[in-house]
Amino acid sequence: MPHDHHRHHRHGEAIEGRASRTYNRLARLLMKSQYRRIAADIAAAAPEGAALLDVGTGPGLLLRSLAAVRPDLRLAGIDISADMTAHAARNLADLPAAPDLRTADVAALPFDDGAFDLVVTTYSSHHWSDPETGAAEIERVLRDGGRLLDYDFPRAPFEAFADTLAETGRTSFRSPWSLLMKTTRFEAEKRR
Ligand SMILES: C[S@@+](CC[C@H](N)C(=O)[O-])C[C@H]1O[C@@H](n2cnc3c(N)ncnc32)[C@H](O)[C@@H]1O
Repeated sequence: MPHDHHRHHRHGEAIEGRASRTYNRLARLLMKSQYRRIAADIAAAAPEGAALLDVGTGPGLLLRSLAAVRPDLRLAGIDISADMTAHAARNLADLPAAPDLRTADVAALPFDDGAFDLVVTTYSSHHWSDPETGAAEIERVLRDGGRLLDYDFPRAPFEAFADTLAETGRTSFRSPWSLLMKTTRFEAEKRR
């Protein structure tokens, strides 16, 4: 599960190898209700048939919850760690429509301009080594009026989006995990 490791790591990083296996195991064991809550929140914001990208998808469990509540969505996920995208592919293998999973850095997204209606990301943005370039890439792949939803620790680099997207909301995201994982829900829109 995500933990606030501010004091241990100052730079962005991929979660690989043994750490990715541990993360996959713990997330599958402990975090399903949190992904369900976030997926319900995203589902309420997603237009019918929307193309959605999950940045730093890790083991892909948010995509799994989204597919369960909104089978109409066209889902994609990227992670900088090939080990994580491999876990995601296994965790999502039984879905009727396979999400488009790729190994990539948020700072160089392998998608066309305007390809997505919605970009979401959970507990990942505080890992990005270059959040400003990541924000510019997210803006590029969003269609005009498309939205970003970032659920992350309050110290995540939300300000990196200020130059590229228009902030439309910043609230604390309440859940049974709030005490352990204080979470901010940051929302922004691509200017038309
Ligand atoms: C704490 S995990 C969160 C995974 C998943 N979103 C979740 O909520 O369980 C952070 C993820 O961000 C990925 N990551 C770190 N830096 C990244 C970057 N620059 N671009 C894309 N993914 C990145 C890591 O490899 C890791 O899988």
